[in-house]
Amino acid sequence: MNASTNASTNASTPAFDFTPFLAPGLPPPAVKWSGFAKYNFIGGHNDAELVPLDALVKAANDVLTREGRTLATYGLASGPLGYARLRDFLAQKLKRTAGIACDADEILVTSGSLQALDLVNGILLEPGDTVIVEQATYQGALTRLARLGVQAVGIPLDGEGMRMDALAAALDDLKRRGVRPKYIYTIPTVQNPTGTILSEARRLEMLRLALAYGVPIFEDDCYADLIWDGQRPPALHALSKNGGIIHIGSFSKSIAPALRVGYIVADWALLARMLALKTDAGSGALEQMVLGEFCPAYFEEHLPRLTRGLRAKLETLMDALDEQFGTAAEFDDPKGGIFLWVKLPDEVDTLKLFQPALAAGVAINPGSEWATDKAYGKSRTRLCFANASHEAIRVGIATLAEVCRREFGVPNRIANVERARA
Ligand SMILES: Cc1ncc(COP(=O)(O)O)c(C=O)c1O
Repeated sequence: MNASTNASTNASTPAFDFTPFLAPGLPPPAVKWSGFAKYNFIGGHNDAELVPLDALVKAANDVLTREGRTLATYGLASGPLGYARLRDFLAQKLKRTAGIACDADEILVTSGSLQALDLVNGILLEPGDTVIVEQATYQGALTRLARLGVQAVGIPLDGEGMRMDALAAALDDLKRRGVRPKYIYTIPTVQNPTGTILSEARRLEMLRLALAYGVPIFEDDCYADLIWDGQRPPALHALSKNGGIIHIGSFSKSIAPALRVGYIVADWALLARMLALKTDAGSGALEQMVLGEFCPAYFEEHLPRLTRGLRAKLETLMDALDEQFGTAAEFDDPKGGIFLWVKLPDEVDTLKLFQPALAAGVAINPGSEWATDKAYGKSRTRLCFANASHEAIRVGIATLAEVCRREFGVPNRIANVERARA
């Protein structure tokens, strides 16, 4: 593809071609957005009906009326770490819900937690490094590591999250080969994509192993507010006795992803290095101000409403899968979050299912894009249940079952009706 401009052209003045000017090593170009699929199970979108709109409107009005003139300065009147009232709220909330003892000056507000991933990677990683991740993990983390030339070693999970016997074996193996991983990246609380929660005992074991092998832990907790029963173990950051943990979080899942507000909790010495890389002169101020106003008053009452709505959607999805795929779709009931991690029969390759499903209006995330081991991910898929309506979930899964049967011969019973392969 060439990189000519969109300027109007005619035969005598050909469009300027930027292709020879592009820097080497760029990632492939983005695909033009053509709208959401009719039955959209991809990405980490939230439920539009559950965005707390009235309270956000009120918060925006109140905070702008009161302190809108601080917009005249970069960083509001709060400095480069981000809006002070939001960081104060976060410090209190993290103490109350995750057991993290930090003050507001150990929190850096970022443009989504994706920027947090970039900043943490930016201060720690160089090409040729090795990191440890869960075998099924966030695609955004994996693509970043690949682009940085960093090897990701995947650790299998079970119903309680990352397996500590496998982590111990991997750390031991790497040590014998003279490799010290730069970090253990984990999504311990409602893991993406498996929805598991790492038990407290495993958290303590991970900390013990990290200390024994001298490896930091990078804790990504962006789904921790979306647990059905609200019960969570303390954060790794809270349980560590010797530091060595960088903790990140986000408002994308608890309020709305388009806000682009995330955060990093780390010692000032580390935040100081990250600030030197955060060259955007501050993350968007309006959304920080609105959250700083909204959260102290409304965050707590918003969460149960959100999790109740998400749980209802999950049940619709699990029922639809049972009905349409029967035993061909295997999954564990996740403890919270917005994703279901589904295993289809071995003959299904979800990368190959992706296009025909999309052509029928159903967007799914192929499992191999969420896994370090492509063979493990091959017949798995990650389905986001938050954004689609209940009706779209039902029709979308019925459509997916038809496409899957047409392409791979399974499921051979749909809605309990025996089907011949097309
Ligand atoms: C585990 C994990 N980390 C980070 C992110 C990035 O989210 P955001 O930049 O919207 O905060 C996501 C988004 O889905 C995620 O699943």
